[in-house]
Parts: sequence; structure tokens; C-alpha cells
Amino acid sequence: MPRLTQKTVSTMLAAPVALALTAASGLLASGGPASAQAGDPEKIVEIMRTLAGKQMARPSGAKGQCFTGTFAPTAEARALSKSAVFTRTSPVVARFSVGGGNPKVADGARGGNRGFSFRLDAGGPGETEFVMINAPINFVKSPEQMQAFLQARLPGADGKPDADRIKAFTDANPETTLQGRYLASKPIPGSWVGVSYWGVHNYTLTNAAGARQLVKFRMVPLGGEVGLTDDEAKAKPTDFLVDELKGRIASRAPAGFAMVAILGGGSADEGANATQQWTDEDKRPTVTLGTLAITAVEDNKTCDGRFFDPLNLAEGIAGPASDPLFTARQPAYAISIGQRS
Ligand code: HEM
Repeated sequence: MPRLTQKTVSTMLAAPVALALTAASGLLASGGPASAQAGDPEKIVEIMRTLAGKQMARPSGAKGQCFTGTFAPTAEARALSKSAVFTRTSPVVARFSVGGGNPKVADGARGGNRGFSFRLDAGGPGETEFVMINAPINFVKSPEQMQAFLQARLPGADGKPDADRIKAFTDANPETTLQGRYLASKPIPGSWVGVSYWGVHNYTLTNAAGARQLVKFRMVPLGGEVGLTDDEAKAKPTDFLVDELKGRIASRAPAGFAMVAILGGGSADEGANATQQWTDEDKRPTVTLGTLAITAVEDNKTCDGRFFDPLNLAEGIAGPASDPLFTARQPAYAISIGQRS
């Protein structure tokens, strides 16, 4: 899809998508023609919206809070990338979220991921955006698989999801259980800044001399991991994550991350399958690219008026242009913002 500005995309897509949604809602419920164009972002967002119910927030990461901060790059980052965000300090707009399409989900819920989206504005063409999650892998490897995953979960005629249909999908697509298993093996995040987030996709950094380096991005919490048992999480107030982070900012406790590049080495296992980590990924050499500090809570309007665009990367940072899972994200987010109120 050609690169469009956010404004153009949302203006172009909002009305047709709203109409398509109305027309398709009956078909989707029966799991029908939505599969005709498997992997189409518009179809995927339709199904996400159906599954998220009548709410008009994001169909994924529906609950969240906007914050602002700063990103200060290290000298080591400049050796890897000529990007403007690695040459000077940038203001940051960030949104932390609780996974899924329920804007009222309890912050201590097990099951979904936690999201961290942020925009670094180094000035001029230096704007760079990431939309990360607290897992090193995604639950699907392609838009087609995402559509089939969601479609398998659509309610049948009785209004309930069909357990046999979900099982058949899972048996045929075992890699779609890996992210859930990873999250289930970890404590529940007790702080939005107390857990690592990953960019998940393969990225390529290019420095001023033209040297290229394959990397994955990880945000490592400066104050360490804060994990809760299921019982501890249940005892927390429904919306504890905002207050926890506001408290850290007020008391000047660590509220940020080291941005780390996990280095690829050119081996065959470094393909673009987002459901898999690289071999020994956690033991790979890393380079700390900078420090992202969250410094203030921000009106949610700042984060809601514009979507975080994973394709918006300053020169010197590139995403996997040949991975359809990566390239489907911008059009999906553009469609989604056009439907949000
Ligand atoms: C085909 C691939 C994907 C599709 C179709 C998709 C779809 C969506 C949609 C429609 C939204 C709501 C966006 C908005 O209204 O602003 C969303 C949000 C989100 N997605 Fe995805 N997504 C995809 C892949 C991914 C991947 C691979 C990740 C993790 C690395 C991810 C993480 C998130 C997060 C964290 C949010 C919340 C964004 C925010 O805070 O504004 N998504 N996704």
C-alpha cells in the first residue's frame, strides 16, 4: 500500500468502512464471505470490531492512558543508526494499554498483553513511532492467520463462540498458542513501566557509513520488573496502573526504559516469523540505544487524535517491508481511527 498521511487515510477510510461494517455485520457473524479476501486489513478490523462489541474505542489496546516524556540516545546508538532520534534528545508521546477490546477490563486481568506505543519527535523528518507489547512474539505470523484466528472466535447462531471451531483452528495453527503460553508463564505486570516491551518485528538500522545491522527492539524497565501473582492482581483496584505510574512520576521513582537493540548475526533463523524468537535471542549481544523517561500524565486526547504508526520511522531505521504482518498494521490502524469516537 502506498504511504499516505494519517489525515488522508482516516478521511478516506472512515465513511466507507462504517458502511461496510453495517453491511457486513450479519455475514461476519456466520463466518461467511469475510474470508474471501483473507488477510485484508479492512476485513480484519471488521472482525476485531465485531468481537470487541459495541464500544467505539480501539478494538485492541482499548483501555489505556497517554503520557509524555523524553528520549535521550546514547553515543553507541549513533554508531548503528544515522536516524535523527539517535542524534539528539526527543520529546515523547506515549500510550500504555491493556490488551484486548474491552475499555473497562481490570488492569490486573491475566490473559491479554500490555501495550506500549510511543512517538519520538526529533524534529523535521526525525519522527519515529513504535507500537510494542510485553512479549517478544506475536500471536499470529501473518494477516491471513490473524483473520482466521479472529474468525474462529466469532459467535455462532447461539451467540456463543464455538469451542470445536476454535480447537480445530488451534490444532491446525499451533504457533498461535505461543504468545499466550509466554504470557501465562510470567507474573501479571504490576506497573506499566515494570515490564519489558518488544517491537517483535525485525528492524534494520543503517549508520552514516551505510553499514546495516538487523535488530529487534526491547524496552527494559529502569526500575526492574514488577510482577504480581494472580491473587495480588485480583486485590488491586480495577484501574491501578494509571495511579501506579502517576505515583512514580510524583515521587521521582524510576519511570522509564533503556531502549536496547538485540543484534542479529545473519543466521538463517532470523526470518520475519513474528511468532518465533530468534535462536538464543535472550543471550544475543545487545546495544543500549538510549533512555526513555516517562515524565508526565497527558490528556488522552493527545494519543487518541492520531494513531501510532509502526511504519513511521526516520531514515536510518527500517521495518521489514517484505513482512505482510508489519505492513498490514498501518492500514489497519488507519481504518480503526476512522471508526473511533
Ligand atoms: C496484521 C497485523 C495487525 C493488525 C491488523 C492490528 C490491528 C490493530 C488495530 C485495528 C488496533 C487499534 C488501532 C487504533 O485504533 O489506533 C491495534 C492496536 C494495537 N496493536 Fe495491533 N494489529 C496488528 C499487529 C500488531 C502487532 C504485531 C503488535 C505488537 C507488536 C500489535 C500491537 C498493538 C498495540 C499495542 C495496540 C494499541 C495501540 C495504541 O495504544 O494506540 N499489533 N492493532
